Amino acid sequence: MNQEQLKQAVARAAIDYITPKLTPDSIIGIGTGSTANFFIDDLAAHKKQFKAAVASSDASEERLKAHGITVIDLNDAPKLALYIDGADETNAHLELIKGGGAALTREKIVAAAATEFICIADASKQVETLGNFPLPVEVIPMARAYVARELQALGGTPIYREGVITDNGGHILDVHDLAITQPIELETQINHITGVITNGLFAKRSADVLLLGTEQGVTVHSKGKT
Ligand code: 5RP
Repeated sequence: MNQEQLKQAVARAAIDYITPKLTPDSIIGIGTGSTANFFIDDLAAHKKQFKAAVASSDASEERLKAHGITVIDLNDAPKLALYIDGADETNAHLELIKGGGAALTREKIVAAAATEFICIADASKQVETLGNFPLPVEVIPMARAYVARELQALGGTPIYREGVITDNGGHILDVHDLAITQPIELETQINHITGVITNGLFAKRSADVLLLGTEQGVTVHSKGKT
């Protein structure tokens, strides 16, 4: 199977995983990216089984609405039972790097608000140590050069993702050359740099469950039991 087929398989497995948990009152958070897109397309057949979705990006909102799925603002969601999203990297603790699609801030907000975060990824995303994938950092545009210097001082090599403006009007720095052995500490440290909106480490709020698409089938990993 190629990577696209693995993403499709894991999206289908996510449907099987979540549908028994859905009730007519459920509001579910939806991520961003190609794996999340496969999930949205499969979710359409189940749209009568839940109340509404909260999207983590304008792109996902558009795709959900195109399928006739009701999308509401997070501020209008009293409770978010589930959040389903892809990742750029995951380690054995289900700590993630996200933001390849520049949606990291809204993704982090929706993940924080959700009771259960289900990460869906193909096997290429599983790594021993996070950081081979450059860490996305969303910044206030006027702070870009300052934040880049601070990230260099931390040992990283930040590269400006030119031409990309996030849904929040931010810019993205992709930070290369970080071997992330202490993800929670680094997530906190980078978020404390003035001008940073957020960074793509999902370590303080890691995934609760990982569905991983492998050649041998989709494997299920729970936090603390991988
Ligand atoms: C978007 C993300 C995505 O979840 C991540 O980039 C993975 O994308 P894909 O499913 O296309 O491989 O964090 O900001």
